[in-house]
Amino acid sequence: MVTLNDVYIIGAGETKFGELWDKSLRELAVEAGLKAVEDAGVYTKDIDILYGSNTLGAGISYQNDIGSLISDFSGIAADHIPALRVEASTASGAAAIREAYLSIRSGEYNVAMIGGVEKLTDIYGSEILDKTSTLLDSEWEAFFGATPAAVAALTARKYMKDFNVSKEVLARISVNDHENASKNPDAQFRNRISVETALNSLPVAEPLNIMDCSPIGDGAAALLLASEEFVKKNKIDGVRIIASSIAQDFLALHSRESIYRLDSTVIAARKALEKAGIRNDQIGMVELHNSYSIYGLIALEDLGFAEKGKAKDLVEADIKLDGRIPVNPSGGLKAKGNPFGATGVGQAVEAYLQFKNRAGERQIKGLEYAMLHNMGGSGSTSIVHILGGA
Ligand code: COA
Repeated sequence: MVTLNDVYIIGAGETKFGELWDKSLRELAVEAGLKAVEDAGVYTKDIDILYGSNTLGAGISYQNDIGSLISDFSGIAADHIPALRVEASTASGAAAIREAYLSIRSGEYNVAMIGGVEKLTDIYGSEILDKTSTLLDSEWEAFFGATPAAVAALTARKYMKDFNVSKEVLARISVNDHENASKNPDAQFRNRISVETALNSLPVAEPLNIMDCSPIGDGAAALLLASEEFVKKNKIDGVRIIASSIAQDFLALHSRESIYRLDSTVIAARKALEKAGIRNDQIGMVELHNSYSIYGLIALEDLGFAEKGKAKDLVEADIKLDGRIPVNPSGGLKAKGNPFGATGVGQAVEAYLQFKNRAGERQIKGLEYAMLHNMGGSGSTSIVHILGGA
């Protein structure tokens, strides 16, 4: 008999994101995991499965099989709890959440743990660029010298020309992230920046400056998900995941129908809203995947918050913490940071803290629904989760 269980986040934890040279991949994962376990108040015996999300561990730390690594180093290997790695480029974190969600929803498991971790700062310069470029189509993009920044810049140039959008509009996406990150102790960058600072920062790939780019960083984030049955039995006040949705697009930018419409995002968002049975204007916060400011801007459109070419109207007021649709209260990929495998998990940690009224200075009041958007590379995969509606 198929049972469809509702799924709740019952615990969350994360490390600080940043250049964490004194901590290894395994230490980061376990630090975040222990915080989540403590937060949820569960025991090892309660955990049915562990999903580890990671993107470049093999290439940078020479470490594959992240699931087993986390299980082993956290001391639970002897309990023989299944432990798998989930990889979906820079959407690995949300992909792991989705796998955990599905495993509980199917009725197979009651409690699933998710540990997202990434250690990017052990290499630098052209070496890290080579590794991040493996997230593109290696034969058709990276081989010809394209980097993630160059691909984002192509999208930005065409979008800015077609919709008469200035660099200042892009800068405001980053200014908002830094403002919110200044209120988040786990963020990589806690400094506020002005539009002028962003516009005058070092060029990376015209028209994108360094302040349009998410940084290279390390970090880990962890969650515990549990079934309705477990939550009720243990009288836990969890945060419900009311929809999980995923969609794919071409890996290479040149194969896509439009270079500034993220079709995977459009489809994943539409399906998630349908599943949740809510309208876009009921969403009270969104954590979106702005690895580059241009993606933040077009994601606002593709998630349904503005028509194509019109997100520029939202960046001055609407996206702020006290605005109509607060964007990236955590500080987002630009300022909280983007340790790939941990990024999507960290977005859920933020939403969980917001629902629990534990977000401190960046607390959003009266939150009913949160939308989380995690994307692979330049948009090959998009995963959207909707939380809330208790
Ligand atoms: N925003 C703000 N400051 C940044 C920054 C960023 N994105 N990246 C680096 N810095 C700061 C560093 O903290 C450092 O400051 P300090 O001198 O005060 O310590 C300084 O700039 C130089 O840092 P460094 O690491 O040498 O920068 P870099 O020039 O090697 O790298 C980028 C800068 C933008 C190229 C790099 O961050 C990058 O590649 N980002 C994009 C990652 C990516 O592609 N993600 C998505 C994959 S799909």
